[in-house]
Amino acid sequence: MALNSRDRRSGVDARALATLKATMAELDRDSPIYVRIATALSAQVASGQLSPGQALPSHRELARSLDVNLTTITKAFNLLKKRGVISAEAGRGTAVRGRDLNHAAPSYDQPRLPPAIDLSVHKLSVPGYQDFIGSLLRQIASRPDDLARLQEYHSAFGSNHNRRLAVEWLLSWGVSATPNQVAVTAGAQHAILVVLASVLTAGDSILVPRLVYQGVKAAAQVLGLGLIPVDTDEHGMIPDSLARLVGDPRVKAIFLVPTLANPTTVTMPLDRRQAIVDIARRNSLLIVEDDLFRPLASNQLPSLWSLYPEGCFHISSLSKVIAPGNRCGFLAFPERYGPAIASALRGSIWMTDVISLTLVQSLLEQKKHLEFVGTLRQQLTTRHSLALTHFGNALAKSDPESLFLWLDLDSGQDSTAIAEMLYERGIGVVSSDVFMIGKTKPNNGIRIYKGSARSDTEWDIALSLIATLVRKPE
Ligand SMILES: Cc1ncc(COP(=O)(O)O)c(C=O)c1O
Repeated sequence: MALNSRDRRSGVDARALATLKATMAELDRDSPIYVRIATALSAQVASGQLSPGQALPSHRELARSLDVNLTTITKAFNLLKKRGVISAEAGRGTAVRGRDLNHAAPSYDQPRLPPAIDLSVHKLSVPGYQDFIGSLLRQIASRPDDLARLQEYHSAFGSNHNRRLAVEWLLSWGVSATPNQVAVTAGAQHAILVVLASVLTAGDSILVPRLVYQGVKAAAQVLGLGLIPVDTDEHGMIPDSLARLVGDPRVKAIFLVPTLANPTTVTMPLDRRQAIVDIARRNSLLIVEDDLFRPLASNQLPSLWSLYPEGCFHISSLSKVIAPGNRCGFLAFPERYGPAIASALRGSIWMTDVISLTLVQSLLEQKKHLEFVGTLRQQLTTRHSLALTHFGNALAKSDPESLFLWLDLDSGQDSTAIAEMLYERGIGVVSSDVFMIGKTKPNNGIRIYKGSARSDTEWDIALSLIATLVRKPE
C-alpha cells in the first residue's frame, strides 16, 4: 500500500495512512511517538508497501494526517535518514532509499566452447593428488563404518569431529580458532553467502576493494546487498578512503581478500590490516576475511580474524590449494553469530557432503595437505619466472606466489577487447571489467591463471601468444 496516491484533504493516501496507523498501534506505547512513526514507515519499506525511489508525503502533510506536530515528523524522518531508510534530495523532497546495488552479477552461462588453453579459471592438479584420491575412495569402499557415515545427516556446522578437522586445517596456516567458533561449508563461495545472509539484510551495503572477486558480486546480487568500492593501492584498501565511506548508514561490513588477492595478487601488510581493523572496530562494522589463498604465502601474516575476533569472519577452503573439485570450506566466526550461521547453513545446503570431509581428514592425518601445497608453491614460482621472460615490468605488481598473474595493460588498450581476441586465438583470460564495481575502469588489466596450462610448454606457448597482443604500460 503506497503513500503516493494522495487524498485531497490531507494529501496522503487514505489506505496507506490506515496501515501506518494500524502498525503504529501495535508498537510499544512506551516508545516515543516519533520512533513509532519511523518504525512503522520502516516496516512498510521492508514489506515492499513503499518501494525504493518512492516519494514520501511532506512533513506538513504527514503531521496533519497523523495529528502530531511538525517537530515529531521531522524527528521521525531524521531517524529514518540515520538508519539509511530514506534520503532527502535538494528539490525532490524525501524518498525511500533505493538499494542502489551499483553492480551487475557476472554471467557464467555463456554458451561458448571453452578455449583450447583456458587460463581464465583455476584447474591445477598437483602431481600425486589423483592417486591419493583414488586410493582413498577404494579404502572408503572397503570400510563399512565409513560407508555408513556417508548415508547419515550430520549437524549443520559439521559433526564435532569435522569441526575439529576445521580447527586443524586453519591452524596449519597459522589461524587459531576453537571448535565452537568454526563451521564446515561447501567451499569458500558458500561461506561468503552464508556469512552475508546471516549478518546483513537486503538494502545493506558492503565496502569492497575497487577490483573485487566476482563471486561477491554474485552473492550480493542474490541477497539484494549493495557494494561500494574503496580505492586501493599496492597494499590493498586505503584506510583514508575507507574511513570516508563508513559514515553511510547502509554500510554494515567490509569484504576483503587480504592474502594474494583475486585479481590483483596484493597481500595486505600488517600495519594496513591493523588500520582497517581499527576503522571497523570504531564504526562497529563487520569484516568478511576471505583468506583462501593464505596457504600459498610463505610469510603468513596475522589474520584479520586474529586482530578482530569479535567482528571478523574468516574463510578458507581447499579449492585453490588442493583441488577445486573438493567442495569443502571452513568458516571461523564470532560465537554470538552461531545461531544465525547455523540457520543460513541449514537454509542453503543443510550440511557439507561427507566424502569431501573424509578426504580432508585423510589429508590432515597424513599431512598430505602440506606436501601438496609445497609442490604447488614451487610450480607457481617456476611459472612466474617463465612469465617474467615474456612480460618483464608489466608483472611488477604481480606476486610470484599467487595462483595467477595480474598483467597491467597500456591505458590505450581495452582489456575486454584483448580478452576477446585471445579467446578467438584459443586462450582464455579474464579482463578487469569482470572485477569492477561501478562504471569507471580504474585498472586496465587481465588475469591469467598460472596452473591451468597442462604443462610448462603449453604455458610458454600461451604466454608468447598473449605477449604478441598486449602492449605493456610505459
Ligand atoms: C577470492 C575468492 N574467494 C572465493 C572463491 C570461491 O572458492 P571456492 O571454490 O572454495 O568456493 C574464489 C574462487 O575463485 C576466489 O577467488
